[in-house]
Amino acid sequence: MIDPIAAWHAEHQNFSRLLELFDREVNVFHSGDRPDYELLLDIVAYLRHFPDMAHHPREDIAFARIVDRDPSLGPVAARLQQEHRAIAASGARLQELLEFILDDVFAERGQVGTACEAFLTDYRRHLLTEEQVIMPRARELLDAADWQAITQAHAVTPDPLFGDNVEERYRELRRKIMVAAGA
Ligand SMILES: [Fe+2]
Ligand SMILES: [Fe+2]
Repeated sequence: MIDPIAAWHAEHQNFSRLLELFDREVNVFHSGDRPDYELLLDIVAYLRHFPDMAHHPREDIAFARIVDRDPSLGPVAARLQQEHRAIAASGARLQELLEFILDDVFAERGQVGTACEAFLTDYRRHLLTEEQVIMPRARELLDAADWQAITQAHAVTPDPLFGDNVEERYRELRRKIMVAAGA
């Protein structure tokens, strides 16, 4: 069995790589040039797909087990769960905004910049809290039976971008990730 904490961390690293690419395009936006809006949209679409549908629900179950063992982690776990909902909602709004831009529907520039910045900042802070506060405790508090229960409670969904079979929808994003990695 693969180390579940290592697998969890690897998913965070994948999300961080995407946020890095996202950040780069937001810098292009702030420089006054046209960013790669297709790339921004693909990133948000993926983050709404795999993390929102698979990664976060699994974490929610893991958090509950961690808090059972150490109730002092209750407040931080509750905050992270609330952030899962907030990230999903802000991702949905951002996706809509980026689709407007790509469809040539008017979108106010300031609103686009603010939405992108807020999404980046919130997402990164969320990942950092999980990496620094929750994961070290998860390693100490959860055993193989917990991880089995977590996996069974939420079936493992194949990652449509970083997994072995890249979905058609994410082929272009995967290509751009490879190009960025080689650059
Ligand atoms: Fe999370
Ligand atoms: Fe996470």
